Amino acid sequence: MNHDVRDLKLAAAGRLRIEWADRTMPVLRQIRERFASEQPLKGVRIAACLHVTTETGNLMRTLVAGGAEAALCASNPLSTQDEVAAALVAEYGVPTFAIKGEDNDTYYRHINAALDTKPNLTMDDGADLVTTIFSQRQDLSSGIVGGTEETTTGVIRLKSMAAHNVLKYPIVAVNDAQTKHMFDNRYGTGQSTVDGIIRATNLLMAGTRFVVIGYGWCGRGIAMRARGLGARVIVVEIDAVKGIEAVMDGYDVMPMADAAGIGDVFVTVTGNKNVIRKEHFASMKDGAIVCNSGHFNVELDIPGLTALSTAEREVRPFVREFRLGNGRVVFLLAEGRLINLSAAEGHPAAVMDMSFANQALSAEFLVRNAGSLERKVYPVPAAIDQEIARLKLASMGIAIDTLTPEQEEYLRSWQEGT
Ligand SMILES: NC(=O)c1ccc[n+]([C@@H]2O[C@H](COP(=O)([O-])OP(=O)(O)OC[C@H]3O[C@@H](n4cnc5c(N)ncnc54)[C@H](O)[C@@H]3O)[C@@H](O)[C@H]2O)c1
Repeated sequence: MNHDVRDLKLAAAGRLRIEWADRTMPVLRQIRERFASEQPLKGVRIAACLHVTTETGNLMRTLVAGGAEAALCASNPLSTQDEVAAALVAEYGVPTFAIKGEDNDTYYRHINAALDTKPNLTMDDGADLVTTIFSQRQDLSSGIVGGTEETTTGVIRLKSMAAHNVLKYPIVAVNDAQTKHMFDNRYGTGQSTVDGIIRATNLLMAGTRFVVIGYGWCGRGIAMRARGLGARVIVVEIDAVKGIEAVMDGYDVMPMADAAGIGDVFVTVTGNKNVIRKEHFASMKDGAIVCNSGHFNVELDIPGLTALSTAEREVRPFVREFRLGNGRVVFLLAEGRLINLSAAEGHPAAVMDMSFANQALSAEFLVRNAGSLERKVYPVPAAIDQEIARLKLASMGIAIDTLTPEQEEYLRSWQEGT
């Protein structure tokens, strides 16, 4: 079987970790059991470009159980867990192309290796498969019935492709499911970003001035968890509604130019580019820590930081010190790549359970509806969202109420005014 991973001897350790994650992924497990008996993906070739983590390992197992032939490559050069990649190849028979720390050329070689399997379905986290197909391998698109997209940045790109009429096949925006972004982006990114910063630096959060740039789903979660550990949180936004929300959530809100000189730690999660620029780095305090948890590291102007610096060195794993011309130092974590996936393990499995349940059920939806969908970005069907929430609650042993017939009638009627 074709593959490219760091070391197949890591497979046994990877299997243990994948099984550990599976313990807290009960929704995906139930889907896997159903897939195994119903085979909804029988004979479907799937190319997945996702963070190669334990949770992704369990998604791959689910797709394979459903009858698919799945191949996997990484959606970020630094997020791969090498033992998981090894286990997928040696223990689960999934062709995997991913090595933590791979260079840019290898990263794209791996994307192309996954595409060489001539997929009928693509699964993206950041739209790299779709954009590679569009820019270099258009011949593949006629064989593809659809694709899924995991993250905000990818959905934005794909919607832009659809608006410009260049999208070649239908996409389901998994990120936009309520059971995905309200939990994964908020609680998953919130906890794991703080985890990544702490693992990289061993920083005491209590009392630090912690600047969150972007108060969307991810930013809300990061701000909430940083505050929980005693950090004094500052929010930077460009959207007035998000700005007022952050104020009423109790945070200081100010422009980046003002926050730059105050913060001890900076985290970008905007999905935008050059959010922290040269002039901001130049006004930071000595020892400021800068990282990114948005999809691409272009959120930070790293060339600008390099240009300001007279010397650079690695002081700990994932911590690079930049000595600026003004005599101060700034620490950049994990090359500005997703800090939670680079320096920690990414989101906990319990939250990826819902995200990847959406992936598996969206794949089934695309196969079932092959040929009848347009070249558009579709939401995850509401019934799937509701079903995942119901299964998750049930797995936690939590029940909710149901409407009485009288209440149903009351909510349906326009005549009942009192
Ligand atoms: N680290 C992870 O594991 C992880 C998980 C999910 C999503 N993401 C990524 O994180 C990023 C954010 O995702 P989200 O779901 O929170 O998106 P979102 O759209 O909910 O929030 C982004 C916020 O950033 C703000 N913003 C944009 N430009 C800005 C600027 N220049 N300055 C300040 N604020 C600005 C927007 O107004 C918005 O409120 C995306 O790139 C997404 O793909 C990462």
